[in-house]
Amino acid sequence: SLGKRGRELRKALVSVWLQCPTITRIYTIGESFEGRELLVLEMSDNPGTHEPGEPEFKYIANMHGNEAVGRELLIYLAQYLCNQYQQGNETIIDLIHNTRIHLMPSMNPDGFEKAASQPGEIKDWFVGRSNAQGVDLNRNFPDLDRIIYINEREGGANNHLLQNMKKAVDENTKLAPETKAVIHWIMDIPFVLSANLHGGDVVANYPYDETRTGSTHEYSASPDDVMFKSLARAYSMYNPVMSDPHRAPCRKNDDDSSFKDGITNGGAWYSVPGGMQDFNYLSSNSFEITLELSCDKFPNEETLKSYWEQNRNSLVNYIEQVHRGVKGFIRDLQGNPISNATVSVEGIDHDITTAKDGDYWRLLAPGNYKVAASAPGYLTVIKKVAVPYSPATRVDFELESLMERKEEEREELMDWWKMMSETLNF
Ligand SMILES: *[C@@H]1O[C@H](CO)[C@@H](O)[C@H](O)[C@H]1NC(C)=O
Ligand SMILES: *[C@@H]1O[C@H](CO)[C@@H](O)[C@H](O)[C@H]1NC(C)=O
Ligand SMILES: [Zn+2]
Repeated sequence: SLGKRGRELRKALVSVWLQCPTITRIYTIGESFEGRELLVLEMSDNPGTHEPGEPEFKYIANMHGNEAVGRELLIYLAQYLCNQYQQGNETIIDLIHNTRIHLMPSMNPDGFEKAASQPGEIKDWFVGRSNAQGVDLNRNFPDLDRIIYINEREGGANNHLLQNMKKAVDENTKLAPETKAVIHWIMDIPFVLSANLHGGDVVANYPYDETRTGSTHEYSASPDDVMFKSLARAYSMYNPVMSDPHRAPCRKNDDDSSFKDGITNGGAWYSVPGGMQDFNYLSSNSFEITLELSCDKFPNEETLKSYWEQNRNSLVNYIEQVHRGVKGFIRDLQGNPISNATVSVEGIDHDITTAKDGDYWRLLAPGNYKVAASAPGYLTVIKKVAVPYSPATRVDFELESLMERKEEEREELMDWWKMMSETLNF
């Protein structure tokens, strides 16, 4: 039971799949409260598999069901990528061959159905925002900001704060089914970069969304503030409306004082607890920003093409940001991958971890860094790395296990003992 709009969405995705079957796959990560599928279109040269070393990217739209522009833009994006790929566009072919891209046009199909079925052209500002249970999905994620702010002061993990808590997530009755499905998705796939698409304003918003003190407006830098600004700009700069310094606020009384170059820190704009953006950064390796794409939440259908024109280059350019920073593999001396190893960057209090094949991606702004690879039972290795704007610098690590080290030391000791005994003739 998809409903009218759900069937339309499925049809649109299926038509992309029929046109580009070798680089696409449709799958679902679960169901909404009313039983609508949470559909995803994947685009990659090997759909359905994580290729070692290839970064994963996701766009999620329409988590507020009444914010329709992102939903339509992701359908256009899928069609565009498929068309350009077929027409031999080198940029798009490279992108699809080197990235696993996941597009979820609607995280809240129940809300969208409700918003879209209102009669008349003008839609209410709130109807359909929440899911069918009345839950605002962008306030429904576990509030990991509160935990990280305590850990900052008192010590404690600086990443993957929900580690080993999948069961607690499943049993938590406060989490909407849409939220749970997305949490599992975030924790199961090694996403590197993502964005969630909204409407109601025009700006690229970056972490943290929740303020440290609980005040309504307060710049709330994450450890990766420099990179997040760069990522948000990589979106806004390609959108002529978003980056226009003379753009009038969407509504006369809107406070856009925190906006600069079409970007804003989330907390500086207004504090959001329980949002999806910060949750990604604090529970997984994924860096996420929030994109506000239109003053109107549910504009007339005829205007959609103009939103596509405004956002097309931004949407593509933002995916390309996944190929920045440092990337590579962490293995042991025998060449076996070490999964869940830690990659730390001196001066940035936010570690990332390796995926199943020992592969990692550490997004970083241009500069010189000291990068450390470590894992329990292994000797830590530190390397100096120069990072340009792009592409990512490849840095592999080989870690010696402490057991191997002990074995070596034992052998050295034996050799020494043998030599001594021979010399001294015992
Ligand atoms: C190829 O794709 C890029 C990225 O979307 C775009 O900027 C460029 O204009 C495309 N090239 C052609 C020939 O259409
Ligand atoms: C990953 O490593 C951390 C600490 O190094 C540990 O707490 C966690 O259980 C590990 N996760 C998995 C899935 O092995
Ligand atoms: Zn929204």
